[in-house]
Amino acid sequence: MANDTLTVTDNRTGTTYELPIENGAVRAIEFRQMRTDPDDFGLKVYDPSFMNTASCISRVTYIDGDKGILEYRGYPIEELAEKSTYLETAYLLVFGELPTRSQLANWVHEITFHTYIHENIKKFMDGFHHDAHPMGMLVSTVGALSTFYPESKEIFDEEERMTQIYRLIAKMPTIAAFSYRHSRGWPYAYPDNDLSFTGNLLNMLYKLSEPKYSPHPVLERALDVLFILHADHEQNCSSNAMRAVGSSHVDPYSAVAAAAAALYGPLHGGANEAVLRMLSEIGSVDHIPEFIKRFKAGEGRLMGFGHRVYKNYDPRASVIKRLAYQVFDVTGRNPMLDIALELEKIALEDDYFVERKLYPNVDFYSGIIYQSMGFPVEMFPVLFAIPRVAGWIAQWYEMLHDPEQKIARPRQLYLGEPKRQYVPLGQRGQIDAA
Ligand code: CMC
Repeated sequence: MANDTLTVTDNRTGTTYELPIENGAVRAIEFRQMRTDPDDFGLKVYDPSFMNTASCISRVTYIDGDKGILEYRGYPIEELAEKSTYLETAYLLVFGELPTRSQLANWVHEITFHTYIHENIKKFMDGFHHDAHPMGMLVSTVGALSTFYPESKEIFDEEERMTQIYRLIAKMPTIAAFSYRHSRGWPYAYPDNDLSFTGNLLNMLYKLSEPKYSPHPVLERALDVLFILHADHEQNCSSNAMRAVGSSHVDPYSAVAAAAAALYGPLHGGANEAVLRMLSEIGSVDHIPEFIKRFKAGEGRLMGFGHRVYKNYDPRASVIKRLAYQVFDVTGRNPMLDIALELEKIALEDDYFVERKLYPNVDFYSGIIYQSMGFPVEMFPVLFAIPRVAGWIAQWYEMLHDPEQKIARPRQLYLGEPKRQYVPLGQRGQIDAA
């Protein structure tokens, strides 16, 4: 059996070190012992954007990017999408096992009965400008929840922590729907706790004068499947934000606000919005070659394509592509689909995309479904954030229980000016450009 170690010779000193390899990794701290003299800080490991650094041990989500595999707690995403519900999947992510019948009933009950938000939160949301982006409203309002629940600071009190977990999962759809209705100038529709998680979301979004809203079962289920697919994705930008901010032991609402802010960006959860804008700009199948040429020349990116970890078809994109047809049976075919299908076909045959292993990711088709279901593009990242809160909580929960985790605090390589003396204003010369 091969020795599970790495032998390193520091050619500056001629010293050889033997570093243990555990779980396919070497601990970066091992390099600190490599010094040129006793005053030397020790060798650091430089890895901008965490291209090859594992920041934690996790048992939540497994991805094999080369093979296109995604599993939550060992269960393949395709199986969960077919057989599970979002709330059951959320339980699985947070606690590590599928719930028993009574555990599930209790979980669903607790979440269902935490869907209402304090009336003052409604007033807070009223203060946003009429055309405020709903994701900006969501980020701020989730953060504001910490002021309504000061006991959420008790993150090591199991009971308090559970209450915040119920509240977070339950209130995300309410805040999301209220931000949508605010932007439309519609009165807020309160939660209907007789409905399912996604049925109630559709109710809060679309209910008008009818006494009771009945969601279309196909759309209700489609949304649930989309939520399962978006629930977690291991150490992505927003989960990393959740862990990094949560590592300061701040309350979970503040940490979720940070994670949601990370998700807002167009390279992350904002990509589905960007895909739809791109498809509208392309406008018709005839314009695709011209756009492909532009993307290859570096003028913008083919949004919804490429991924840091998937170098194969994103398994979530395959499920969503199939789901799209079920939704279109109800809503009618979205003309954007034809542009997307042709774009995918051309890109997958093009050397530029093939060489770089750029395949459709989760955002490529999800926006088309959301648009067909009547959501404006601004709501797309919000629809990503609602289910992702389960993953953020699972990652945060795991971090809090991990004895190896401390406050996240990376090192840097300082290449700025060496120590120099302050120059008084009058002696600085005319260096202002303005
Ligand atoms: N269109 C055109 N070229 C691309 C694209 C794209 N979508 N993505 C990557 N490339 C090129 C890039 O220009 C680079 O080429 P070169 O080696 O010649 O410089 C090469 O592929 C590698 O790209 P990278 O930027 O080093 O890759 P990354 O791992 O840092 O970026 C990514 C991953 C997702 C940010 C990137 O692929 C991208 O910007 N995609 C479009 C935005 C998108 O769809 N984001 C959603 C991600 S999935 C949902 C989520 O997790 O939030």
